Amino acid sequence: PRPIVIDTDPGVDDAIAILLALASPELELVAVHTVAGNCPLADATGNALRVLELAGRADIPVHAGCPRPLLREQIFGKFHGRGGLGGTVLPAPRQGVAPGHAAQRLIEVSHAARATGRPLTVCPIGPLTNLAAAIALDPTVAAAWDKVVVMGGGFRVPGNRTPYAEFNILADPHAARMVLNSGADIVMMPLDLTHQAMATPARIERLRAAGGRIAAAVVELLTFWDRGDIERFGEPGGPLHDPTVIGYLLAPELFQGKRVHVDVDCETPERYGHMVADWYGQTDRPANATVMTKLDAEGFFALLTRRLAALE
Ligand code: BDR
Ligand code: CA
Repeated sequence: PRPIVIDTDPGVDDAIAILLALASPELELVAVHTVAGNCPLADATGNALRVLELAGRADIPVHAGCPRPLLREQIFGKFHGRGGLGGTVLPAPRQGVAPGHAAQRLIEVSHAARATGRPLTVCPIGPLTNLAAAIALDPTVAAAWDKVVVMGGGFRVPGNRTPYAEFNILADPHAARMVLNSGADIVMMPLDLTHQAMATPARIERLRAAGGRIAAAVVELLTFWDRGDIERFGEPGGPLHDPTVIGYLLAPELFQGKRVHVDVDCETPERYGHMVADWYGQTDRPANATVMTKLDAEGFFALLTRRLAALE
């Protein structure tokens, strides 16, 4: 299996992304790293431990990372309810947080994986602070990665938290710029793509009908996720941003995108996190990311439903 680390701030859709990874034999979830984002770091870490407990995978270590962004003042998410998981009660974890800072562990695991010939794929689904800290501590770390598959950003759909910016990039734009400039092979899942991954009532019903304890927990998480904002999304339900990162590793044929140069505004505070892509090669800046823009949503949900229903 392909070794991955999920770097996360759970978060309803983060929790579902973790469960999808656990349900997928093609992937080996080496560790879960936590970062402040949707909620404060301590809540993110507790939630990550609870999700692993729910899936009976307390053997996977959770390392806590950065408690605040690199430079900007801190912001938290708005739509994940108190404590970050929409009020859903997941089992109390028996496992504690593992020793070692997430950024330091990322460096160690990355080089170790590279040395075995199976390089690590990094899956950041929260602000990019831990990845940036790892790059600052060890500028060679990015060269050890197979890929970085990021949920973040927005282009034709520029923002979900400000008119300009998507939350993960907005919450730490300076970190995002460091990662984009690191030389890593980056694949981005921006809002343009994730707003096609709508957990509609019909899809949630199919998940419920597919059965299983984990699917039932996900259905419960998703009841908090529908903000009834049809104007924004074009259909009822809520977007499953973060699970698209894992979906891409499992079935890249469901995704279409383009390799382009991407930059992020770190200069203008009210436009922090605004992303610009050179879609048509109008500058001489070399491409630094593959930006996904089109999802086969039915294929994605069929995969998610099949996998979650089979996870015991
Ligand atoms: C991103 O922000 C968070 O609220 C979600 O978990 C996702 O990672 C979407 O903008
Ligand atoms: Ca997230």
